[in-house]
Amino acid sequence: MKKYHVAIVGASGAVGEEILKVLSERDFPIDKLKLLASSRSSGMEVEAFGNTYIIEELKEDSFEGVDIAFFSAGGSVSAKYAPCAVKSGAVVIDNTSHFRMEADVPLVVPEVNPDDIAGYKKRGIIANPNCSTIQMVQILGALHRKWGIERVDVSTYQAVSGAGKSGMEELVMQMQKFFAFEMDECQPSVFPHRIALNLIPHIDVFMDNGYTKEEMKMMNETNKILHSNFALSATCVRVPVLRSHSESITIRFKCEVEASEAREVLRGAENVIVIDEPQNLSYPMPSIATDTDETYVGRIRNDLYDKKILHLWCVADQVRVGAATNAVRIAEKWIKMQ
Ligand code: A2P
Repeated sequence: MKKYHVAIVGASGAVGEEILKVLSERDFPIDKLKLLASSRSSGMEVEAFGNTYIIEELKEDSFEGVDIAFFSAGGSVSAKYAPCAVKSGAVVIDNTSHFRMEADVPLVVPEVNPDDIAGYKKRGIIANPNCSTIQMVQILGALHRKWGIERVDVSTYQAVSGAGKSGMEELVMQMQKFFAFEMDECQPSVFPHRIALNLIPHIDVFMDNGYTKEEMKMMNETNKILHSNFALSATCVRVPVLRSHSESITIRFKCEVEASEAREVLRGAENVIVIDEPQNLSYPMPSIATDTDETYVGRIRNDLYDKKILHLWCVADQVRVGAATNAVRIAEKWIKMQ
């Protein structure tokens, strides 16, 4: 089997570190590995695959000989360096929002639209969707194929990991200060307000239409991935959870749908696990999803007023399903196409 020269840009970050972990767990066919970050972490040692790797500073000429480059170091880094990687002959799997909505860049959730990967040739880039979008389309994709969706309303409960390592550190630090009776010293820096013991209905910047950019990403990316054009409205909320996102989703179908039928369809969906026994206090929670590669769905129930409407609750590990694992699954599918 052919082995690949792989680069990870943002290797010292929350998602970069997880990509490395997922590659190693899945026995990804790696020939050489290059770990890249900013000058701040250049020289740092990282243990992986039984070897010690040194993080190097990202430069325009960092990609010589690289076949697959995972980018997870922010949109501006992807904007500047992804084209350098492509020019060197690598396929870029980009975890940022920078290229996602460009018409000639495929936006892929491998369980939902794997065939779109073939479109990578035009730009050499495959985009990884927003974390909240990935887990939602894994659920919506299966249901939309079966019955056709007319409208979706979603509220998210997003973990601090979505803001990277510094987001996680800010929550932990503020919780420590709370228990030390030093809450007055909790000056927010990553989030716009205190996140410990709080909820913030604001992720990414506000747009002129009153929605945040995060909410618009969910709306636009979902329809691009599903090749659909149904109405979707999102409210994205940051919650004091470390690393799994939860979503409350209301779906209006084109026809009447029974909750029991939807449960069966979702039982057959790839990498989706139905946990739906409320009588046994059994439903998805971040504590179940964290550190796993599955998307969990439960609380599936009919609306009491409209037979075309279902409500459900889904949870997935933001760092894995919402980022690292999705990126590695894309790479695995890409390899199969070569
Ligand atoms: P560094 O650790 O050297 O700052 P997170 O999402 O957890 O905050 O991680 C962001 C990742 O992106 C880190 O690996 C970080 O490296 C990397 N990064 C941020 N800015 C740059 C940059 N200008 N060039 C290269 N890597 C960057």
